[in-house]
Amino acid sequence: MNIKNNSSAPYEEGPDWQRRYDENSTRWERGSLNPAFGYWQKQGAFAGIASVIVPGCGRSPEPLAFANMGANVTALDFAPTAVTFQKDAFVNAGLEAQIEAVDVLKWQPRQPVDAIYDQTCLCALTPAVWPDYTDQLYRWLKPGGRAFMLFMQTGKEGGPPFHCALSHMREIFDETHWQWPDEPPQETDHSNEKVELGVILTRR
Ligand SMILES: C[S@@+](CC[C@H](N)C(=O)[O-])C[C@H]1O[C@@H](n2cnc3c(N)ncnc32)[C@H](O)[C@@H]1O
Repeated sequence: MNIKNNSSAPYEEGPDWQRRYDENSTRWERGSLNPAFGYWQKQGAFAGIASVIVPGCGRSPEPLAFANMGANVTALDFAPTAVTFQKDAFVNAGLEAQIEAVDVLKWQPRQPVDAIYDQTCLCALTPAVWPDYTDQLYRWLKPGGRAFMLFMQTGKEGGPPFHCALSHMREIFDETHWQWPDEPPQETDHSNEKVELGVILTRR
């Protein structure tokens, strides 16, 4: 696939995500842990993570899974349904987390964290704001902190979800700020013939 989302292209305001929840138009939801999450967990890639941010958490189960591993979780989403869901999930599990109804492009943590888990948040944002978003991820992480990225491959123009071509990802997560792994991305099927490429980036 050789599609690159032109980050300087004009773009419309993002979709009304709350409306998607209201209309039950949430095809991105798996209803279970992402296989890449399971793979990374089995590989021990999450070992030593004391604090993690999950931006655009939606109703995904991964924030709770991190909390079950003992991590201090911050889950972010500006859709009220997502925030309420995560709060209820943590209350029901008897666990604590910082769950914030915020814009990921504006929010800052009180202190930098060990890890970020991005599952269909980047691809939900219009490519014009991707450099702002990667700046945010860089600021949120401690030096040496890791960003667990699932780069959505749609092979199509437009979105969301927007196609996250690896060549484009290497530009916005540039080598000056991010260390890319030697191993190839972890490939996971998603809905509607889409594929996610799991990559662990280390903040320099
Ligand atoms: C495609 S969904 C993915 C949800 C979740 N990560 C999952 O895997 O099920 C994108 C989520 O990001 C949230 N979102 C999009 N833009 C956002 C922003 N600028 N700030 C906070 N949340 C945002 C939406 O409300 C939505 O819940």
